Amino acid sequence: MSPIDEVIKNKKTNINPIWIMRQAGRYLPEFRKIREKNKDFIKLCLNEELSSEITLQPLKRFNLDAAIIFSDILILPYGLGQKVEFEKNFGPKLGDLNLNKISQIDEVDFVEKVHRVYKAIKKVSLDLNLKNKSTIGFVGAPWTLLVYMINQQSPKKTLKANFFKDEFLINRILLIIEKFLKIHIKHQIDSGANIIQIFDSWAGLLEEKDLPNYIYSPTLNLVNFIKSLNVPVICFPREIKNYKEFCDIVKPDAVNIDYNLNPKEILKNIKIPIQGGLDPKILLTDKETLRKETIKYLEIFKNHPYIFNLGHGILPETNPDMVEYLVKTVKDFK
Ligand code: CP3
Repeated sequence: MSPIDEVIKNKKTNINPIWIMRQAGRYLPEFRKIREKNKDFIKLCLNEELSSEITLQPLKRFNLDAAIIFSDILILPYGLGQKVEFEKNFGPKLGDLNLNKISQIDEVDFVEKVHRVYKAIKKVSLDLNLKNKSTIGFVGAPWTLLVYMINQQSPKKTLKANFFKDEFLINRILLIIEKFLKIHIKHQIDSGANIIQIFDSWAGLLEEKDLPNYIYSPTLNLVNFIKSLNVPVICFPREIKNYKEFCDIVKPDAVNIDYNLNPKEILKNIKIPIQGGLDPKILLTDKETLRKETIKYLEIFKNHPYIFNLGHGILPETNPDMVEYLVKTVKDFK
């Protein structure tokens, strides 16, 4: 059993497995080299030779316990036929959303567009299973995908005032997203993903009254679906107002915490395995600060099932030497 499975399934404490959100990415020169030659980001995600190589790049350098497959949450709208592009210094840009068009897409059409992600998972997981490391598949949560599909770009700190204007449309799209997320998850698991993480990066945009409709209920459906396939699921409802309520209702196998939370409070309130927390900006400071902050999390969660990770994705300006030092600090902790 892999160390991450030991924590999630057997509730082992003090073994401190580690992986890092966005561990395959722009802070690595070897990634930037491939990226420079491959201007179309979605095409790169769908090139199983390159995407499996990129997925394994961080594991060649660091003693990590898992690889997260190199893809993007926006592969889902792409698979539904919505245009998805990534512009330098801007982020994702989506085309117009045509409900009639996406209503006509079926599983065969979708899988045909994205199946090379599954091929990459197959390649990577064959390699990692031999090394007793986890292969993490992932999806965006229905709410976060809805935000991108309607807003057509990353939102700022708040939603546009007219976001919920057409509730009928929103609910129709949510159902379509949910249906294809299940398809996407099932194919990732069938190809060798042995953990699924659900990223709800924009959970923090919602008011409390809207959480049941847009977060709890659709995420619970997905979590139950993943559990029915006997694979553990980690949720990351970033900046949600109440992590305890989320965990009590949605009941993921583990939860990733963001860096704004007080880890001691979380430890008091949350009984399931916990992942993450360290502010990615700490990796931009110095080794002494990094060590102190890392040990703080390890000490707090010493007697709790805990997977080391960050409180959001690693920043592109991070020096890989600091990542090396972080991994070593975690692995040496007793
Ligand atoms: O190691 C990994 O985690 C790799 C796989 C991965 C990527 N994106 C690759 C990527 C994962 C798990 C994601 C998830 C993702 N994508 C999320 C959820 C996590 C979060 O950050 O909140 C979201 C919201 C997206 C959407 C997205 N993709 C944005 C907003 C951006 C642009 C901003 C940015 O950081 O550049 C991307 C692009 C993206 N996805 C890159 C990578 C490596 C950078 C692309 C590049 O090289 O230009």
